[in-house]
Amino acid sequence: MGCDQTSAWQSLALLRSQQTQDWDIRGAFASDARRLTDFSLQAPHVFADLSKNAWDAQVEATLMALARERRLESWRTALFGGEVINTSEHRAAMHWLLRMPADGGELAAALSGNTALQQPLRDVHQTLDAMLALAERVRGDALITDVVNIGIGGSHLGPEVAVNALEDWVTTGKRFHFVSNVDGHELGHVLDKVDVRHTLFIVASKSFTTAETMLNARSARAWFMAQTAALSAEEQAQAVARHFVALTTNTAAAADFGIHTTLPFWDWVGGRYSQWSAIGLPVAIAVGAERFREMLAGAHAMDAHFVQAPLEQNLPVRLALLDVWYRNFMGYGSRCMAAYSHGLRRLPAYLQQLEMESNGKSVDRDGRPVRVQTSAVVWGEPGTNGQHAFFQMLHQGQDVVPVEFIALRDGGKHLGAHHRSLVVNAVAQAQALLMGRHDGRPEQHCPGNRPSTFLLLERLDPASFGALVALYEHRVFCSGVIWGINSFDQWGVELGKLLAKDLQDRIARKDWQGVDASTTALVRQLLLD
Ligand code: F6P
Repeated sequence: MGCDQTSAWQSLALLRSQQTQDWDIRGAFASDARRLTDFSLQAPHVFADLSKNAWDAQVEATLMALARERRLESWRTALFGGEVINTSEHRAAMHWLLRMPADGGELAAALSGNTALQQPLRDVHQTLDAMLALAERVRGDALITDVVNIGIGGSHLGPEVAVNALEDWVTTGKRFHFVSNVDGHELGHVLDKVDVRHTLFIVASKSFTTAETMLNARSARAWFMAQTAALSAEEQAQAVARHFVALTTNTAAAADFGIHTTLPFWDWVGGRYSQWSAIGLPVAIAVGAERFREMLAGAHAMDAHFVQAPLEQNLPVRLALLDVWYRNFMGYGSRCMAAYSHGLRRLPAYLQQLEMESNGKSVDRDGRPVRVQTSAVVWGEPGTNGQHAFFQMLHQGQDVVPVEFIALRDGGKHLGAHHRSLVVNAVAQAQALLMGRHDGRPEQHCPGNRPSTFLLLERLDPASFGALVALYEHRVFCSGVIWGINSFDQWGVELGKLLAKDLQDRIARKDWQGVDASTTALVRQLLLD
């Protein structure tokens, strides 16, 4: 049964149709003294104020009924039971196991009966220990001044967003570079800056077949060989062993490539959920083993909250239900991420993969069409930059776009006055969206009643960052469950890969039979004439 056939869905549609034109978030505050309390929630490391959103207690209660009709709790049990819920790829989705302490931590009791998870948990800790030991060796190696991560998608965005977010903890004396694009400018500019004797290349690819990563890795290796041409073949092989590390589930392919130091992970770790695995090596080198473990601990605390808190007090669940309300009943097609934190400047890019690659789907788990809208478009820029760009549209444009603010109470190493200004701006923007402006000339008028969510972290440290990312992972899982889709595959990405390969072959064969006129003309203009 599709989600739109549930009785809760019908009730939500009715509630929406009964919401009068003049229903207003400001009015909801005025008529309900408990609104702030009822729509605020403290989860591990993350406080959420959901009160400035276009919903009320009745809507939320009906969304909770929808979650129950869609058996969200059973799906959560299946996720944390290691069941094969990624059915199209015949895999479990056990990224949460990567941050579980060896003794099960806060989820020990819940998992004690599941012997099937014990060996994977041992494997996780064996690899984690090896990865952190390697990270510490590299940290202590003053000869390594540059770490170049070559990877794309989940093998890039997670580590990059983490290294940026945790920059107050990043070791001095080393530079971190992330090369993802197959555009040679990206790799080329990095290679221009680094010294072959002082550089560690990390080839990060779950599959070790992704075309962009493999081309970048081959080019990096060719550059390395050219730079070390004076060495004997044996010395060069030793140099490659010292300066190249692979992070992959495909250890055989890494060995064929000539890399001898490989940290493995497993097919039950989705690419966009992999930063907690060996894929986190650049993060561990940047911040050290202890901080990396703190990041895992923060994520584990959020896992425990997600598993144990009743749905009504469960932050990933409440955020996911709000997403469903906005997408399917209010008709909002996108969500703006406004993190008032320079450290979180790459969060929108990371969330675009997490949310849109997970839930941008049109068929359900059984391959039947999903008759309702799924993933919203996620986009954004850090505050205050966005205020001087697209916030104009958020305040006065004709489309309503829910905004998600993230702010930190303690700005860390920021200059105090800067942090105060940053945070004041975040709060003022949320207030402006809500209240609007009703005096002055028509062009100064702002309608207000524009929804926003405010997430607040004590500070951007490894634990709170881990918790924040785990929060988003579980939120995406929950909305996927409501819509009935598999949030862990990404077949839509395959077509472009196939056609790119086909075009390469056709260029060699000069064969345009069956290719549309526009594509043929573009290839001719770009690549042939
Ligand atoms: O493009 C799809 C995708 O498979 C992502 O899901 C993944 O994170 C990325 O490519 C990179 O894949 P890999 O780590 O196997 O190189």
